[in-house]
Amino acid sequence: MIPVAEPYLSEHDIALVNEALRSGWISSAGKFLDLFEERWSAYCDMPFGIAVSNGSVALDVAVGLLDLQPGDEVIMPTFTIISPAQSIVRAGGVPVLVDSDPSNLQMDVTQIEGKITGRTKAILVVHIYGHPADMDPILEIARKYGLKIIEDAAEVHGAEYKGKRCGSFGDISTFSFYANKLVTTGEGGMVLVRTPELAERARSLRNLCFQKQQRFLHDELGFNFRLTNVQAAMGVGQIERIEEIVARKRAIAAAYHTLLGGLPTITLQREETWAKNVYWVYALLIEESTGLTAAQLSSRLREHGIETRPFFLGMHQQPAFHRMGLFHGESYPVAERLALQGLYIPSGLTLSDSQITQVADAVKVCLS
Ligand SMILES: Cc1ncc(COP(=O)(O)O)c(C=O)c1O
Repeated sequence: MIPVAEPYLSEHDIALVNEALRSGWISSAGKFLDLFEERWSAYCDMPFGIAVSNGSVALDVAVGLLDLQPGDEVIMPTFTIISPAQSIVRAGGVPVLVDSDPSNLQMDVTQIEGKITGRTKAILVVHIYGHPADMDPILEIARKYGLKIIEDAAEVHGAEYKGKRCGSFGDISTFSFYANKLVTTGEGGMVLVRTPELAERARSLRNLCFQKQQRFLHDELGFNFRLTNVQAAMGVGQIERIEEIVARKRAIAAAYHTLLGGLPTITLQREETWAKNVYWVYALLIEESTGLTAAQLSSRLREHGIETRPFFLGMHQQPAFHRMGLFHGESYPVAERLALQGLYIPSGLTLSDSQITQVADAVKVCLS
């Protein structure tokens, strides 16, 4: 099987992990944690980084920093992983959904303003599949209505919007360093913020809200969302070579564009003129005229030894939210089509050029 993604760790990354292990600093303090936070926040052009144990809890912290009151609303795309929506719900808020822009799979910015009410507190932008969302109109709306912006940048390490890195636009941004991400710490995440006050609060939420003066007196309920020094060591080396990692992901995408471009049966992932796509995944949308759904193409590709993953299923289609009374009767046709017709093919950092050809040939055979 050619896996959809396989992590690549260099000898240098492994040496740094060994150094962390040998140092005895194996829990949530140590020089690699400091370095990881400093270097990732600097890379993303944000002043403060707070490392956490995964990208989902990074969103719990980020949404926690909004201080939502019950019923406060946060606008977000329906087409995403469940993490941002569940963070809003768990904080007592209400996710308010918008559909996707079919041309680039990002949240449809033309739908945002119509969703604003007196309860709207923030826009939670999720950059999808390596490509940035169209930030300028989002920033303009946020300014006009006094809304906060959280960027979920889990899938866009190193991606740029008009020459500026994703994760540097919001009041708060979050990242995942899961094994399929461009930079990985196995499991891991980070919250980036602009002010020392938010940084201190995020650190406190990450660490059970222990207090400096009286450790076991708690003013607020927090979490244990700490990352370990050993995990951070794995990430430090990758930040040093992130441009190489981004270049390889873009080269894999360019090879697929050449091999699969022009087929009338599929639409390939594109790059808007204002975007630098890092192609976290390589996504395909299958035309209905083929008579095939993504699930059917996926099982055909599996017979050829090729692993795929389906696209997200929209938040408005989730039974867990329906049972809470959310999104009943809501319909987002673009996201619904993406969920039926979209999948992504192998594009991990260990994929060889001959495997890229093998995958592309198999896609052509399965579509013919
Ligand atoms: C957009 C987005 N947000 C959040 C997450 C959650 O990250 P984690 O798996 O580290 O919890 C992911 C995971 O892939 C993601 O794609």
